[in-house]
Amino acid sequence: MPLRKDFLWGGAIAANQVEGAWNVDQKGMSVADVATFKPTIDVKDYKAHNTVTSDMIQQARKDLEVEWYPKRRGIDFYHRYKEDIQLFAEMGFKALRISIAWTRLFPTGEETEPNVAGIDFYKNVFKELKKYGIEPIVTLSHYEMPLALSEKYNGWVDRKLIDFFVHYAEVCFKAFGEYVTYWLTFNEIDSVGRHPFTTAGIVEDKCIGYSLEEAVYQALHHQYVAAAIATKLCHELISGSQMGCMLTKLTTYPNTCKPEDVLLSLESNLNNYAHADIQIFGEYPTLYKKHLENKGIIITKAAEDDKLLREHTADYLAFSYYMSRTESSDPSLEQTSGNTIMGVKNPYLPSTEWGWQIDPVGLKISLLELQDRYNVPLIIVENGMGAKDEVTSDGKIHDSYRISYLRQHIKEILEAVEAGVDLFGYTSWAPIDLISVSTSQMSKRYGYIYVDQDDLGEGTLERIKKDSFFWYKKVIESNGSILD
Ligand code: BG6
Repeated sequence: MPLRKDFLWGGAIAANQVEGAWNVDQKGMSVADVATFKPTIDVKDYKAHNTVTSDMIQQARKDLEVEWYPKRRGIDFYHRYKEDIQLFAEMGFKALRISIAWTRLFPTGEETEPNVAGIDFYKNVFKELKKYGIEPIVTLSHYEMPLALSEKYNGWVDRKLIDFFVHYAEVCFKAFGEYVTYWLTFNEIDSVGRHPFTTAGIVEDKCIGYSLEEAVYQALHHQYVAAAIATKLCHELISGSQMGCMLTKLTTYPNTCKPEDVLLSLESNLNNYAHADIQIFGEYPTLYKKHLENKGIIITKAAEDDKLLREHTADYLAFSYYMSRTESSDPSLEQTSGNTIMGVKNPYLPSTEWGWQIDPVGLKISLLELQDRYNVPLIIVENGMGAKDEVTSDGKIHDSYRISYLRQHIKEILEAVEAGVDLFGYTSWAPIDLISVSTSQMSKRYGYIYVDQDDLGEGTLERIKKDSFFWYKKVIESNGSILD
């Protein structure tokens, strides 16, 4: 088999989508606790689902219920992590990607001392993982920054956020360093532009004296610098640690060989790469700098920033891949949605119910491109298919569509590795059903494990193994040689 013996097979989850217990044990409110379930809005309209205003935040502060705020309840991983980890172990997981909720440690983001209950919770989770020999891969910030930092500073627009984040990161390295080797700074850092509130706490109506676009690029800059400092600290505080950066890999094709289409797709891919370029090559790409300049965007930098970016680059590149997209110069063509981005409908690809185009070959293309461009170890930290599952009369979930999606993608991974890609792991999204980031639905399911809960939180939360559970177990056991 092309895969290395110690290949990190597993799954990926995020605190804000699984933990629940949003106001338990002194946890503070995060931006995720503002997201509501919006059944009347088309699931393909990701913008309408993800736009947040100051009024909505005020309302969320007043509302203390969880029914319409699904991320507040998650799937109760906070209380059920032992049972869930045991199920992951039964599938043979070698790794679990999780994230730490910043607000469990620092409820407003500005405290000097961390909340002990938060530290204890994650220590217990890591101990439980170690019990089964499961390697944790830990993201420091996955769409759940402290709400108070959004309200007070308009999030990452303010440079002070660097210090708050670095302090939080340092506490994590000191408290969890004995359990965690693999770290990630920001989940899908490039998504600041697509959903500024969720990723960076930016609210458009608070952008006074600057535009939303300026806010986005300034916030991104602060996150790159924070990531560089966190990388430095991680290396200093945890011997042998690996700090990665993460990209949403939005592989974009030209709709035709018309040069204008090719140019648009090239620009789109370059804009996507820029975020990894900065964190792996240690500087803003020339074309990207010019692109910002042409837009009239001036990023305020401190004297030390360029040096920090240059000297503390990421050790590996982690990326999510769900779909590919297509660009066209013809505005009349039908568009479809993807992972919080639109694109022209590709006639060669089927789509999920949410409009995301299923493209396994696109994953191989992505792997080859990333290997060739960066030449650092790669890990796929998210890949999967959101679908509505049904519990049939036999009490089971026959999710052959999910198995088919994953099988096709893993086949392409094997080919890419055979072609020379240095891939050290695959953590699919998500091993257990959880709350969708973009639509806050529970019914958009990704798991090998079904969770009995509906969109409004009704259900027993019972965990049921789907057909894909048994399939993935065999895939792991055979290190990817048995896919059928
Ligand atoms: C990724 C995010 O972009 O997509 C995850 O990192 C998210 O947090 C996943 O859940 C799938 O998106 P959605 O909207 O289907 O939950």
